[in-house]
Amino acid sequence: MRKKIVAGNWKCNTTLQEGVALAKEVNSIVKTSDVQVILGTPFIHLTEVVKLVDNKAIAVAAQNCAAEPKGAFTGEVSAAMVKSTGAQYVILGHSERRGYYGETSEILNKKLALALENGLTPIYCCGEALDVREAGKQNEFVINQLEETIFKLSADDFKKLVIAYEPIWAIGTGKTATSDQAEDMLKTIREAIAAKYGKAIADETSILYGGSCNAKNAKELFAKPNIDGGLIGGASLKAEDFNTIVMSF
Ligand code: PGA
Repeated sequence: MRKKIVAGNWKCNTTLQEGVALAKEVNSIVKTSDVQVILGTPFIHLTEVVKLVDNKAIAVAAQNCAAEPKGAFTGEVSAAMVKSTGAQYVILGHSERRGYYGETSEILNKKLALALENGLTPIYCCGEALDVREAGKQNEFVINQLEETIFKLSADDFKKLVIAYEPIWAIGTGKTATSDQAEDMLKTIREAIAAKYGKAIADETSILYGGSCNAKNAKELFAKPNIDGGLIGGASLKAEDFNTIVMSF
């Protein structure tokens, strides 16, 4: 059985003190044994948050890592550094990183390799912009993103990934994809995985939906057979809402 996952993506929000307070609140109210809960915090929060959460229920993720292993790259944080905090996951390929920081497939392939080498589980994001969706080309666009990156991995490495489909037009806009649109894309992704790596691996891969997923719409989204959970931005900053999403399966 593939894992159900609810991952928060705090983005560039919360000071260290605010982040620690939020993590404590989440830790005190989230009580689940069958959902893997993940907190995607800013780099500087990782060590503190790892220490304070119940690691049987809650894991911690970085939101990025460097494309180089170490060295003269001022301001970068390497996969090995992330791993050394006790974080277990790293979000890679988020559309904000692709769009604002020019992350190409080539760069993402280096990050994916380093994350995997260092024993981190990548949460690999994909998703199309509004013009692509309006042209009806979203499936081929997303599959192409996968072919340029994670579909180059060996089956052994691919099995370690989590995938998050996040249509750019739904991120932070309050405009969620309908549960049918999300299900249709996740089914397409799973079929592409099956064609590339076989049905057994496709059936074991957790694929999340992200983009204005919140305490009100999570239940309908998570009821779909191919939606294994969510990557949650805005709503992950409110512990009560985040917990409601965790309880929405
Ligand atoms: P959102 O962000 O839930 O605020 O739309 C999701 C994401 O970008 O991961």
